[in-house]
Amino acid sequence: MNEYLYETSFGKAYVDDSLKFMSTLTTGGVNLIMTSPPYALHFKKEYGNADQGDYIKWFMPFAAEMHRILADDGSFVLDIGGAWTPGRPTRSLYHFELLIALCKEAGFHLAQEFFWYNPAKLPSPAEWVNVRKNRVKDSVECVWWLSKSSWPKADNQKVLQEYSPDMKRLLKRGYTAKVRPSGHIITKKFIDRGGSIPGNIIICGNNDANGHYLERCKETGVKPHPARFPIQLPLFFIRFLTDPGDLVIDPFAGSNTTGEACEELERKWIAVELNSEYLDAGRYRFEPHERQNDEGAERERDQAEAVPTRGGKNRRFKKGEPLLFD
Ligand SMILES: C[S@@+](CC[C@H](N)C(=O)[O-])C[C@H]1O[C@@H](n2cnc3c(N)ncnc32)[C@H](O)[C@@H]1O
Repeated sequence: MNEYLYETSFGKAYVDDSLKFMSTLTTGGVNLIMTSPPYALHFKKEYGNADQGDYIKWFMPFAAEMHRILADDGSFVLDIGGAWTPGRPTRSLYHFELLIALCKEAGFHLAQEFFWYNPAKLPSPAEWVNVRKNRVKDSVECVWWLSKSSWPKADNQKVLQEYSPDMKRLLKRGYTAKVRPSGHIITKKFIDRGGSIPGNIIICGNNDANGHYLERCKETGVKPHPARFPIQLPLFFIRFLTDPGDLVIDPFAGSNTTGEACEELERKWIAVELNSEYLDAGRYRFEPHERQNDEGAERERDQAEAVPTRGGKNRRFKKGEPLLFD
């Protein structure tokens, strides 16, 4: 049986190669795979990145295991950044090629494509954006929402957003019924349905400079993970695609942001990461703390509380419970 580095009420964190680790899990027991693998970057991060040319070959064995361990109505959400062609101001196609391989070879369905827009992203590569000024900032990352079947479990009522001030006004005052230039007929009946249905762009910075994890890394002299995603990303998809008590796995867990989001939303989680230092520092996420200066996450949490969730009692991991291992 796999040994874990730490556990919480809802999850367990393992230091391992996730390809090997996933091969020990039973078939069809995972409700959501929420992850961000190393991207095919020209300028490599310290944890190593596969080259653009080898990326699909590197990823496909993981994809086969991911497909096997997912429940029939489960989802695989993959946050993947784009890359530039070395030495040229043109974009690599590797993340689109990966998407096509995941659907055509690994058997996934593209449920919907999402984009994470980070307004605070630094201008890069400097050569094209700042020096030659012939490209603009690359400020979105693709988030491929894939599924094992065409009908993954999903409920947009769990991710409703606060109405805009205009919509709030309309709800209060009503609307004169008319036909829009597009031909859509808008009736005067506007019903408050508790919030608006979000689009497929997730807007949030990656600036948790005052967050508890970074604060504790600083205090203890631990180097923070260099490529974390913001907690708003897993919070959104976990709420949208799972119920309390469901199981979420992050096979490229880094500092375990996904585990923190699951703990908050009472989903069971498994985190797998090759680098023990990255994963170990993720423990700080589970210390009792107030989340500071993190309005997006605050809002997510408020919404999670405002919208009733379906499903029975939340089931926690029992201490020492083997869970999904054969
Ligand atoms: C982009 S980072 C993930 C960051 C994470 N989302 C967070 O918020 O902290 C990708 C991680 O995958 C890890 N990794 C790479 N290959 C792996 C493998 N075969 N098994 C497990 N982890 C791996 C790297 O060490 C790196 O920490």
